[in-house]
Amino acid sequence: MKEQIDATRAEIKGYRITDSASLEAFRIRFLGSKGKTKELFAELKTVPNEQKKEIGQLLNELRAEAENHYSTQKEMIESTASVDNELDLSRPGDADPVGSRHPLSLVRREIIEIFSRIGYYVSEGPEIEDDWHNFTALNFPPEHPARDMQDTFFVEKNEKEMALRTHTSSVQVRVMENSTPPIRTISPGRVYRNEAISARAHCFFHQVEGLYIDKNVSFADLKQTLLYFAKEMFGEKARIRMRPSYFPFTEPSAEVDVSCSICNAEGCNVCKYSGWLEILGCGMVDPNVLSACGIDPTVYSGFAFGMGIERITQLKYKVNDLRLYSENDMRFLEQFKGAI
Ligand code: DAH
Repeated sequence: MKEQIDATRAEIKGYRITDSASLEAFRIRFLGSKGKTKELFAELKTVPNEQKKEIGQLLNELRAEAENHYSTQKEMIESTASVDNELDLSRPGDADPVGSRHPLSLVRREIIEIFSRIGYYVSEGPEIEDDWHNFTALNFPPEHPARDMQDTFFVEKNEKEMALRTHTSSVQVRVMENSTPPIRTISPGRVYRNEAISARAHCFFHQVEGLYIDKNVSFADLKQTLLYFAKEMFGEKARIRMRPSYFPFTEPSAEVDVSCSICNAEGCNVCKYSGWLEILGCGMVDPNVLSACGIDPTVYSGFAFGMGIERITQLKYKVNDLRLYSENDMRFLEQFKGAI
C-alpha cells in the first residue's frame, strides 16, 4: 500500500500540466470520483487495523498534495489564459515616432554638400571669440565705425573681454593662421548680434563662411563659384547678379542677389516685385587680412563669401518669420518630416 502511495505521489509530481485539458485530465486521474486517491482510500479497508492510522495519514497527505498541485496549476493556467486573450500576437507593433531634421540643418547639410563637390572642406571655430579674430584681423580698425555694423554681445571669459562672434568670418582668420594655401574651406556656425527679436531679425542666427586662397585667384573665379552654388541650390534656371558693396575684410566687395525662384523672376511679394533676392556678401580678401593672418598678399590672393542659413532656408522653404526656427513648434517642425 505504501508503495502504491509513493508511486502515485511521484506520478503527481511528474504530471505535465500545460493547458486546461491536461489540468482536467489530472483532476480526473487523481481527484475524480473514480480517481487514484479515491481508489486508494477504498483500499484502506483491506489494511490491517494496526496500520490503518499511519496509512490513513499518508493518504490524507497524498490527497492534500494532489489538491494543492491542482489548484496552483489551475491558477497559473487561468492567468496565462487571460493574458493570451488580451494579447493579439498577430497585431502589428506600434512604431516609435521618428523626429524630423530641423530645416536649418537640412539646408546647412545641402550647402556643405554643394561646396564639398568642388573641393571645399568644413572648418569650425569657437562661438566665444576674441577681438582679434572677430574684428581686428579682419581689418576693422579699433574704434572704427565699421564695428557698429554689427551690434556685438560682449562677455567676460577668464577676466578677458571676449565677444559672441558676430559672424563666421572669424573662422577664416583661424584657418588662414593655421594653414598654408591652397585653402578651400567653408565654415558653418551660429552667430550672435544684439538685435530685438522680430520676424526679420534675431539675436542669434546661422551663417556659412566660404574662403578660397591660392595663387592667381580672381574675381571671375568668385563669380563662377557663386553661380554654381545658386544653380545647385535653387535650380538650373537660377541666375545671379552682383552689386558693389563694402566690407572691411574684402576689396572689392559685393552683395549677391539670386533670381527669385518663387515667381521665376517675374515679380512677387517675396522679391518685392524686383525679381531678385539678396543671398550673400562676398569679395576678394583684403591684402591687409592676408598679411594679418600670415599669408603673403604678393604671392596669394583669394575670395571670401558669407551667407545666412536662415535666409537660404526662407527662400527654399518659404518660411517668412525668423522666430519659427527656434520656437520648437511641432506643427512647424513636422512639415520637414521625410526630408533628408
Ligand atoms: N561677415 C559678413 C556678415 O556677417 C558676411 C560676409 C560678407 C562674409 C562678405 C564674407 C564676405 O566673407 O566676403 O555680414
